[in-house]
Amino acid sequence: SRQDTKGKANQDMRVLDEPIQLDQDFIQNPHAVYERLRTESPVRPVAMPRGLKAWLVTGYAEARALLADPRLSKDNKRVRELFAVHRGADSAFVSSLAAHLLNMDPPDHTRLRKLVNKAFTVRTVSRLRPRVEQIADELLAAMPEDGRVDLLNAFAFPLPITVICELLGIPTTDRDDFRAWSNTIVSAATPEQLRSHGTALSEYLTKLIAAKRAEPTEDLLSDLVHVSEAGDQLSEVELISMAFLLLVAGHETTVNLIGNSVRALLERPDQLAALRADPSLLPGAVEEFLRFEGPVNIATLRFTTEPVEVGGTVIPADQFVLISLLSANRDGEKFAEPDTLDVTRPAGGHLAFGHGIHYCVGAPLARLEAEIALGKLLDRFDTIELDGEPAGLRWRDSTLMRGLETLPVRLR
Ligand code: HEM
Repeated sequence: SRQDTKGKANQDMRVLDEPIQLDQDFIQNPHAVYERLRTESPVRPVAMPRGLKAWLVTGYAEARALLADPRLSKDNKRVRELFAVHRGADSAFVSSLAAHLLNMDPPDHTRLRKLVNKAFTVRTVSRLRPRVEQIADELLAAMPEDGRVDLLNAFAFPLPITVICELLGIPTTDRDDFRAWSNTIVSAATPEQLRSHGTALSEYLTKLIAAKRAEPTEDLLSDLVHVSEAGDQLSEVELISMAFLLLVAGHETTVNLIGNSVRALLERPDQLAALRADPSLLPGAVEEFLRFEGPVNIATLRFTTEPVEVGGTVIPADQFVLISLLSANRDGEKFAEPDTLDVTRPAGGHLAFGHGIHYCVGAPLARLEAEIALGKLLDRFDTIELDGEPAGLRWRDSTLMRGLETLPVRLR
């Protein structure tokens, strides 16, 4: 069992003290590394690609406990101070975009979260179904004659972007700029790129908000502008940061859920056939895709405000903590045969949307989008094949996100 192996690993402190590297090899094949870590040391020090030293959490029980632990903070001001202490780490932040939910603790987190909760409930989001279906239909109708296409670029990406842009009230014509900015922010960009793209995005959002203020429209951004004017619930910088967070979340996640799911199905014809035979499996299958290869590898940064004991290991105070949702969701102590994709697996318990107060506010929307996207895709095309060798598929260079660079397919 894990306890026995952990005991052994603990005796050999050298193994634990040597930080592992989360490098290209890891990005292309994280599951083998994670499996080893879960057995040897589910909570241990690591070195991130740009020099940040942190603790990496790979076990399910440990991840779930820490995600909901109030002794782990996300306070942005303190994160910056700690970055300065952990020398060598990349500390380029664009401050005008950082005052958002994922960089805050209660009570500020609670105050801001209340402002967006209502816009994303299952009920509110279900009203978007006809429109999401229409967007999916239009995109699929526009596939090239020969059926050869990068499914990410032509389908998985534009679907959620169109939805989030319409929800917020952002002209979809600006989406290419957004894609570039957003990509830089979650990928392994240089501090210079991060600063220049972050500044461009911040200036764009500032102008857009001014326009909504002058002439409100029927959308979430205009609603938030209204809230910011009505009292002290939402400051200007919080407003811009909120728009930024919703946009980036809308750009970087659902696209990868769709892409990762299609890839998983193409490599497992039996699962694809099962889903085609019984479309009522789809909602449960989406939960299994989230568990099996969810879009978020490592959750956003947290740090300990005091020593925290978890799974027999003590993380000292003032340490960065990285929680791997991808790894937790493959933990054999929680999920039977964790490396097997089973679209009939009883749903429940995965951590792909996080856990605790920062649990994904967009989860109902992401589920709706993925269900519609996959359902429509399978409905419209009898045959979907990978265009090229499976080994040719590359994962994007990011430890935060888990998604493919491209997904070339042939549709018939
Ligand atoms: C938070 C995953 C789609 C908006 C999170 C977190 C995860 C996550 C893991 C928590 C991060 C942490 O605790 O460090 C996902 C996945 C998605 C998805 C896997 C798609 C499959 C979306 C969409 C939206 C969205 C479409 C926008 C509408 C947010 C926001 C937060 C968040 C605003 C911050 C919540 C808070 O701090 O209270 N998401 N997300 N997400 N997500 Fe998502």
